[in-house]
Amino acid sequence: MSLCRLLYISSAVRDFDTEEVQVLAANARARNAANDLTGLLIYHDGSFLQVLEGPSEAVQASYARISHNWRHKNPTVLLREEVADRVFPEFSMACADPGKFDDDMQGMLQHLSQLKQDGPRMSAPDMKVKVLIRSFLNSFTDLPVETVEG
Ligand SMILES: Cc1cc2nc3c(=O)[nH]c(=O)nc-3n(C[C@H](O)[C@H](O)[C@H](O)COP(=O)(O)O)c2cc1C
Repeated sequence: MSLCRLLYISSAVRDFDTEEVQVLAANARARNAANDLTGLLIYHDGSFLQVLEGPSEAVQASYARISHNWRHKNPTVLLREEVADRVFPEFSMACADPGKFDDDMQGMLQHLSQLKQDGPRMSAPDMKVKVLIRSFLNSFTDLPVETVEG
């Protein structure tokens, strides 16, 4: 079965505090676990960034539902790729607080959030964006545990 990773960003319809985002991730975990999905959710400055990983059909079906949730709009898929391994294998839905990111990661997150203004869908994710996303995802490998929970 092929494994897929999808990363999107969206605009929250209102401000969310840390606890609300944690609850959102917590509420997603049982369903994600049942569908063999893992990933990461971040809220930063009016934007959600989410990574979904799992069997391709499950990722697709889940994204189709999530993207219509009333809490956000203008979902923009920045990355959809077949992968061999998961970045967040141990998290049904990790939740990261960007307030704990270092400057480098905050900069990457800022940059990624801005890309949603480019339109609802990216037909051909550009190489620079792919490299940026790769660096962003890689940086989670060296993060102190308290930065990510879930
Ligand atoms: C930013 C965001 C991320 C979400 N992530 C997931 C997820 O990973 N898995 C899932 O099953 N649902 C996810 N959802 C959907 C909600 O968890 C779920 O459908 C919703 O809370 C159901 O209750 P509601 O009717 O109050 O929206 C997400 C929703 C939003 C806005």
